[in-house]
Amino acid sequence: MQNGAETYRRIATISAHLNPSPSSHQMEGGVGLSRANCRAKGGSPGFKVAILGAAGGIGQPLAMLMKMNPLVSVLHLYDVANTPGVTADISHMDTGAVVRGFLGPQQLEDALTGMDLVIIPAGVPRKPGMTRDDLFNINAGIVRTLCEGIAKCCPKAIINIISNPVNSTVPIAAEVFKRAGSFDPRRLLGVTMLDIVRANTFVAEVLGLDPREVDVPVVGGHAGVTILPLLSQVKPSCSFTTEETEYLTSRIQNGGTEVVEAKAGTGSATLSMAYAAVKFADACLHGLRGDAGIVECAFVSSQVTELPFFASKVRLGRNGVEEIYPLGPLNEYERTGLEKAKKELATSIQKGVAFVKK
Ligand SMILES: NC(=O)c1ccc[n+]([C@@H]2O[C@H](COP(=O)([O-])OP(=O)(O)OC[C@H]3O[C@@H](n4cnc5c(N)ncnc54)[C@H](O)[C@@H]3O)[C@@H](O)[C@H]2O)c1
Repeated sequence: MQNGAETYRRIATISAHLNPSPSSHQMEGGVGLSRANCRAKGGSPGFKVAILGAAGGIGQPLAMLMKMNPLVSVLHLYDVANTPGVTADISHMDTGAVVRGFLGPQQLEDALTGMDLVIIPAGVPRKPGMTRDDLFNINAGIVRTLCEGIAKCCPKAIINIISNPVNSTVPIAAEVFKRAGSFDPRRLLGVTMLDIVRANTFVAEVLGLDPREVDVPVVGGHAGVTILPLLSQVKPSCSFTTEETEYLTSRIQNGGTEVVEAKAGTGSATLSMAYAAVKFADACLHGLRGDAGIVECAFVSSQVTELPFFASKVRLGRNGVEEIYPLGPLNEYERTGLEKAKKELATSIQKGVAFVKK
């Protein structure tokens, strides 16, 4: 039979995993157990990743998929609600990453300290009839607060911003980091990967190909007409009729609305988004590891156009964005789309900057 002290030690280990706090968990009999003693053995060497908003519709499948990523050694799950349950659940998966949960603003700094990559899906999702811009007021404040924490606790981390409207939340994050004196444009990336994932899928359907063989660059931003698929640059090389181009462009631009309407008031894309977020985070981690030739589209600080932020293909490396590629040759349809995208993007970027400056 176990003696009492051993039983208490085990219970404290479990509770320290699920709900760590800066102070050590005191057991009866006065034996303290610090969080450092509560690491599962066998954790693989790798990167430390935090998910902020980890208990949400995107956060939960994202946390599950990151727990399966062999490049992750420590996974911090932060939310303002329900993290203990999600953490307990995910922590039972027999993969290498050690999982820890953090609940509420008083634990944000612990969640962020020492992180290499921070993924932010915190915020409210769209309901039918709402645009991504309608989310602005709530999500802008959430992203600002979380980025203030990042500037303080892990200013060198790579940041993946998922919270909408990405066209404004990325400029908000940049302003927060500038104010804190820690802005490194290479490390701040807005996640537009879902647009690429959708584009690959829809184009593959039209071409009768396996989506894994298709590569569609999607540039601009992440809302409505700012989502600009470059169908003239699809690989493998192919051509589309005018009807096909219009159908595909419209379906890619409205993919989010398609899901919002199908979910009929219960949320926006979560499962495909978690898949896309993990695909993108995995690319960032391969870049951090020093792998060559990691190229993905992302919404970043950019000089590709006259706008301060723009989504295009970027090469990822040890410092985040190592190189931003030009848009390449556009056809007339795409050139017209680009002008529309830039007009709307300029407004959304300005809105984000003004939010922090006001
Ligand atoms: N970039 C993209 O392609 C893309 C795609 C789909 C959705 N989104 C956006 O992702 C966000 C999340 O969507 P969802 O469906 O997971 O929403 P959700 O409501 O299911 O989950 C959001 C989570 O964020 C948490 N949260 C709220 N305030 C927080 C704070 N201050 N700190 C930490 N966590 C906080 C909530 O408790 C909740 O668990 C939305 O803004 C949505 O529009 C982006």
